[in-house]
Amino acid sequence: MRVFKRGFSILSQPNPRIFVALDVPTAEEALQLVSSLQHLPLHYKVGMQLFYQEGLPLVQAIQAKTGKTVFVDLKLHDIPTTVANAAEVLLKNGVCFFNCHCMGGLEMMQTLAKRVRTVSESLTLPEKPTVLGVTVLTSMDEAALKRDLQVGQTSEDYVVSLARMAQDAGLSGVVCSAREVAALRAACGNDFVLLTPGIRLDSGDHQDQKRVMTPIQALQNGASDLVIGRPITHAADPVLAAEDIIASLGAIEL
Ligand code: C5P
Repeated sequence: MRVFKRGFSILSQPNPRIFVALDVPTAEEALQLVSSLQHLPLHYKVGMQLFYQEGLPLVQAIQAKTGKTVFVDLKLHDIPTTVANAAEVLLKNGVCFFNCHCMGGLEMMQTLAKRVRTVSESLTLPEKPTVLGVTVLTSMDEAALKRDLQVGQTSEDYVVSLARMAQDAGLSGVVCSAREVAALRAACGNDFVLLTPGIRLDSGDHQDQKRVMTPIQALQNGASDLVIGRPITHAADPVLAAEDIIASLGAIEL
C-alpha cells in the first residue's frame, strides 16, 4: 500500500476532500453558508432536498462562487438508459461529481460509465468526472439489511461485493461507511475513491446515522473523501464547528 505522510498521521490517500452536505431548504441559506465557510478548504454537496428545490442553477452558482467541487448527490437508480441520459445532462451542465445506487446492478453501472466516458471526450469539463456507486446507506445497520433487504451477509461483505461490481463496471469509486473502508481498500486498491458520509465527532446524538466514525478515524482507515452535514450545519456556530473539524485533522493537507 502506498502511504503519504501528513504530519503525525499516515494516510493511504493524499489530499482528502471534505464535502459539506448543504441539506438546507433554499438557495439563499445554502449560499449564506457557503459564504461563511469560504475561508476554509471545503467542498460542497447538494443533495435531493436542495436540488429538487433549486436545481442546476444553484449548483452552477456555488461552483462559480467557490471554484470548488460540487458533488450532486441524487443517487441515480433506474433502468440503464434513463440513468445514462440523466448523467449526460449533469455532465453537459458542468456537474463532474455525482453518484448512482450500486443496487441498480452491473448493466446500469456499465451503461452509465460508458456514457460518462463518451460524453466527457466530447466536452471540455472543469475536472475529470468522478462517478460513485452508493453501497449500503450509512443509516442502515446489519439488522435492517437482513430484515428489510433480506441480505444474509455481513454489511462489510455485502458492501465489498457491491464495490467490486461498481469497479468492474468502470465507476470511479463508492460511497460507504468508514467502518468498511479498510476492507474496501484491500479489495479495490488505492486508486478507487472511497467517500464516507456518516461522520460524527463523538458518541453523542447520531440522528438517523448508524455506521458512524470520526473524521480522523475515517481518513486513517483509508477514506479518500468525507461528507459532513449536520455536525456542521446544525451546530450552534457552523463556522466554528467546521474549523474545529479541520483542526481535529492536525497536519493533514486538505
Ligand atoms: O448530516 P449528515 O452528516 O448525516 O449528512 C450526511 C449526508 O450524506 C446526507 O446529505 C445524506 O443524504 C448523505 N449520504 C449518506 N449516506 C449515504 C449516502 C449519502 O448519509 N450512503
